Amino acid sequence: MTGANEELATLEQEILARVASSDDEAALEDVRVSALGKKGSVSQLMKGLGAMQPQERQVMGPALNGLKAKIGDAIAARRGELHNALLEARLAGEGVDVTLSVRPERRGTIHPVSQVLDEVIQIFGDMGFAVAEGPHIETDFYNFEALNIPPEHPARQEHDTFYFNEREDGTRMVLRTHTSPVQIRTMEKQAPPIRIIAPGRTYRCDSDQTHTPMFHQVEGLVLDETTHLGHLKWCLEEFCKAFFEVDELKMRFRASHFPFTEPSMEVDIGCSFEAGHVKIGTGDDWLEILGSGMVHPDVIRAGGLDPAKIQGFAFGVGLDRLAMLKYGISDLRAFFEADLRWLRHYGFSALSQPTLPGGLS
Ligand code: PHE
Repeated sequence: MTGANEELATLEQEILARVASSDDEAALEDVRVSALGKKGSVSQLMKGLGAMQPQERQVMGPALNGLKAKIGDAIAARRGELHNALLEARLAGEGVDVTLSVRPERRGTIHPVSQVLDEVIQIFGDMGFAVAEGPHIETDFYNFEALNIPPEHPARQEHDTFYFNEREDGTRMVLRTHTSPVQIRTMEKQAPPIRIIAPGRTYRCDSDQTHTPMFHQVEGLVLDETTHLGHLKWCLEEFCKAFFEVDELKMRFRASHFPFTEPSMEVDIGCSFEAGHVKIGTGDDWLEILGSGMVHPDVIRAGGLDPAKIQGFAFGVGLDRLAMLKYGISDLRAFFEADLRWLRHYGFSALSQPTLPGGLS
């Protein structure tokens, strides 16, 4: 008995020493298995209990159970220590010195096109216009047909359209050549009164200093039962004054032709050229900035509305052109070259949002 007790005490010491010297989870697990696992030393001793004399068993049973519990506790405690040590080491290693000064990293800027779009949305938003959108890849119907441009119409040539490959049924999708298809899509979706602007990318196969194959337009559409040409003029005058942030702005509405408006007008703003720079507002020169007109009855019909009841106006502005004029940028192609020096020079701070009360630019 005493011999057995001593043996147990030695075993206990041995195991507890191994627990204490385990310095990671795997070592700890090894100790556990070698003592308490199926074939572990303590488990083996417990198996021997059945063969003992009752008296002996009465002593050894509790002793072994006590040992088992002790080892379990020791392992749990050691595991806790290891865990804490790991955490301490990580916390020490991942420390951030908040007293270090911020590295003067270059900040990104808002692209002039995004800036001008935000400005335009602000101005029309203030006049009660919602923003609508449409797909860039369009059907012939939305880009042309519904806008009163049938096949063979000469206006199709002016559009320098990018066509997709013919589909099985012989039709071809196009990259939209203007934002006007959104007029039709809006009429299909929403009952008048309609008052939307539709900004977005447009595509034409054309490239020089003032043309890029991808450019941006903003479409405007107002439809209800009473809107007339006077509203169109007022709306565009208000827009131009607000956009160019000038008190005085000479404007000219010049008769023109678009298949989807009747009558149609192109709008010019007064300007002067001083030392190679344009000055917007006054002067004896004119710059064309947008196309507009009263929505053609055929277009209203194509949109599923009754032109005997519904009327209104539409306009289309070149967003990039607005940006060039307002911010004195002479080459449109630079807009899309992603040259960081150009972006830093012409870009805007992300922290100053254009608002009407706070100032647009
Ligand atoms: N869609 C025309 C263009 O791209 C612009 C326009 C829009 C003209 C709406 C009149 C009315 O040139």
